[in-house]
Amino acid sequence: MEAIVLHGGQGTRLRPLTHTGPKQLIKVAGKPVSQWVIEQLKKANISDIIMILGDNNPQKVVEYYGDGSKFEVKIKYIYQGKARGLADAIYRAKNLVGEKFLVYLGDNIVPYNLSKLVDFKGSASILLAKVQNPYRFGVAIIKEGKIAKLIEKPKEPISDYALVGVYAFTREIFDVIENLKPSPRNELEITDAIQGLLDRNREIYYDIVDGWWKDTGTPEDILEANMVLLDEFNQRSIKGISNGSSIDGRVTVEEGAQVFNSRVIGPTFIGYNSIIKDSYIGPYTMIGNSCNIENSDIENSVILDGSNISGVSLRDSLIGQSSKILRINKRPLAMRFIIGERSSLEV
Ligand code: G1P
Repeated sequence: MEAIVLHGGQGTRLRPLTHTGPKQLIKVAGKPVSQWVIEQLKKANISDIIMILGDNNPQKVVEYYGDGSKFEVKIKYIYQGKARGLADAIYRAKNLVGEKFLVYLGDNIVPYNLSKLVDFKGSASILLAKVQNPYRFGVAIIKEGKIAKLIEKPKEPISDYALVGVYAFTREIFDVIENLKPSPRNELEITDAIQGLLDRNREIYYDIVDGWWKDTGTPEDILEANMVLLDEFNQRSIKGISNGSSIDGRVTVEEGAQVFNSRVIGPTFIGYNSIIKDSYIGPYTMIGNSCNIENSDIENSVILDGSNISGVSLRDSLIGQSSKILRINKRPLAMRFIIGERSSLEV
């Protein structure tokens, strides 16, 4: 069975981070969001992966995953280019999938045992979760235990059950997509395609995901995903150097990383070749690769690769790659910012 993992979308709510790459590559708890997806698929013995790429720096996805061998899976790529909807993205994989296949939105994290979907019944099987803001999602109306209707981004609160980003299909979905009309946002919606199966009197099976799942569309979502994944999966593993420091709890210090005269409290992840000096790194923090943190206190934050932070205290922060935040003790003691579009600072 193959899995289609989608990597499109502009990620507007995550700008400026998504000016230089797709949102699915933003790291949480030490890995890109879509790598969590790949590892979850692998656990369910699904190792034939087709990635559909959008038009936001798609080469970065290919550079990171290559042919998949580093991740012990096989990856093929298809360029969708400009977004024409999730159903259009899936249709592009028509010649690469067999009778049954999975679709996983690469910006979603849905802790669910995917092997339960391998032998699904009917024409499709979907995962649903109860949400408080159904207007943000596709929703399903359930009557007498069966799916009666599906609506993308409902204006009225007709159901609390949202479609989360994991779907199992038979090839019949391609016939429906061929006859699909664009939605008001001018996209071919996956939700409308599944409704098309219902219109053909096909049965759609479902399972409810209880507990945490996330569509990582905003900075708050990224911080929350980082927190939950660190809490659930981060192990104590000190491969780097620790000198004159106290490292408590489930802390990962990757190879080449060095922690000097600092206090680190888990769950926390410190990436390859990063240097932490005279600092406090509190719980639920991910420091990416090759970062330099000096004389700073950081808690519940995601600091992406190559960033340099000195003399500041940060909490609940998401810092993009190769950023610098430095306290300079020179007069005038004024702040100086060079920041990207849609940046957010609280000082
Ligand atoms: C997409 C789907 C929607 C689904 C959601 C899950 O929405 O269209 O049906 O509920 O993903 O994350 P989008 O993220 O494109 O707004």
